[in-house]
Amino acid sequence: MYYPEELVEEIRSRNDVVDVIGSYVKLQKKGSNYMACCPFHNEKTPSFSVSASKQMYHCFGCGVGGNVFTFLMEYENYSFVEALKTLAERAGVNLPEMEYSDEAKKAADLKSRLLAIYKEAAKYYFYQLKSERGAAALQYLKGRALTDDTIKHFGLGFSNKFPDDLYKYLKNLGYEDEILRQSGLVTMEESKGVYDKFWNRVMFPIMDANHKVIAFGGRVMGQGEPKYLNSPETAIFDKSRNLYGLNFARSSRKDYFLLCEGYMDVIALHQAGITNAVASLGTAFTPQHARLLARYTKEVALTYDSDGAGVKAALRAIPILKEAGIRAKIVRMTPYKDPDEFIKALGPEEYQRRINEAQNSFFFEIEVLEREFDLKDPEQKTRFFNEMAKKLLVFSEELERNNYIEALAEKYMISFDNLRKLVNRYGAQM
Ligand code: UTP
Ligand code: MN
Repeated sequence: MYYPEELVEEIRSRNDVVDVIGSYVKLQKKGSNYMACCPFHNEKTPSFSVSASKQMYHCFGCGVGGNVFTFLMEYENYSFVEALKTLAERAGVNLPEMEYSDEAKKAADLKSRLLAIYKEAAKYYFYQLKSERGAAALQYLKGRALTDDTIKHFGLGFSNKFPDDLYKYLKNLGYEDEILRQSGLVTMEESKGVYDKFWNRVMFPIMDANHKVIAFGGRVMGQGEPKYLNSPETAIFDKSRNLYGLNFARSSRKDYFLLCEGYMDVIALHQAGITNAVASLGTAFTPQHARLLARYTKEVALTYDSDGAGVKAALRAIPILKEAGIRAKIVRMTPYKDPDEFIKALGPEEYQRRINEAQNSFFFEIEVLEREFDLKDPEQKTRFFNEMAKKLLVFSEELERNNYIEALAEKYMISFDNLRKLVNRYGAQM
């Protein structure tokens, strides 16, 4: 969408840079400028300066600078249009609607109606959780060590035991059967009648990057199948293009993201102050997920379950990340299964230490490969080195490849020259 320059200028002029930045960081007046500790790098003495007359900011420490738009783009990880919309809303400026075709208008209308329904449903589930009927569900969440703040932050809820409770509620709000059917929150079958999709479950609203509820995951309390039931794909929900927790992680201001497997992992990590964690939604990590992440970060620490399935999922995710230009490293959580369990057992500091020690993804792949061979057996050892040599070909740059050859040669006690010869032999065959 193209917005005319005068409009951009009007929005800029109606949002004083001092006010906007002042709502994020504590500014102190120094002469004609305002100073603060820079929100874009770590520092103890303020070198971040905001000028009211120039309507600009600049950090003498790390060199960042710009205007009110770039501040939001940097700080909130917004695109220009997102920053523009936020500031337009803040100043009460109406942005012109795009010129839509009839078909596009209909699609946009369906989406906004579904978003409204999901928002109502999320409020309803949240309210249920806090009501008497939700006592067991609340107990369940408390039993999993979630605080009231966390429950509120993630908007967790409860779908209660009546089979058409939400349906009735939404009908009362005036929604028609057809749109409710399209929402996937209720199922309608001639033979069986109308049923809520979610029933006696703890509810996890899934939000898009802009905090809009687009789906739910519902967990049984205790044992039961399926453990999680997820919303079907709808006009507003495509599970391979959304990541749980991204709405918070995008403004975590860390230079890497954590990628984990489950809703509960994300929540436990955020509760522990590790707010750059996201998870894919009951599905394998896809190239679309990777491209989505690539908008926000260049490095991902994988913190998948430490069981066989988790290792497999990690091995699949690494090349997908790499393809999107994202470096991957692997967080080791042994002897615990997942971040949720780990944090409960050893706490956030220890977890942070594991992140700091996260393993280079290539070494992780080699280590997993190694487990297939008995290195005491010369024949198997030879095969292992051959497989390793083939893998080393992913590094097309000679210096990088040699660095890896050097490291692995040392680790597995083979000479650098011998390993390099082997790699080159496979390289020549390509
Ligand atoms: P996990 O079984 O690891 O769940 O599945 P979890 O998040 O750790 O949950 P708790 O701690 O057992 O409560 C990982 C993710 O896979 C999806 C969900 O997104 C879940 O968070 N999943 C799992 C489903 O969609 N359906 C299932 O039946 C199970
Ligand atoms: Mn878990």
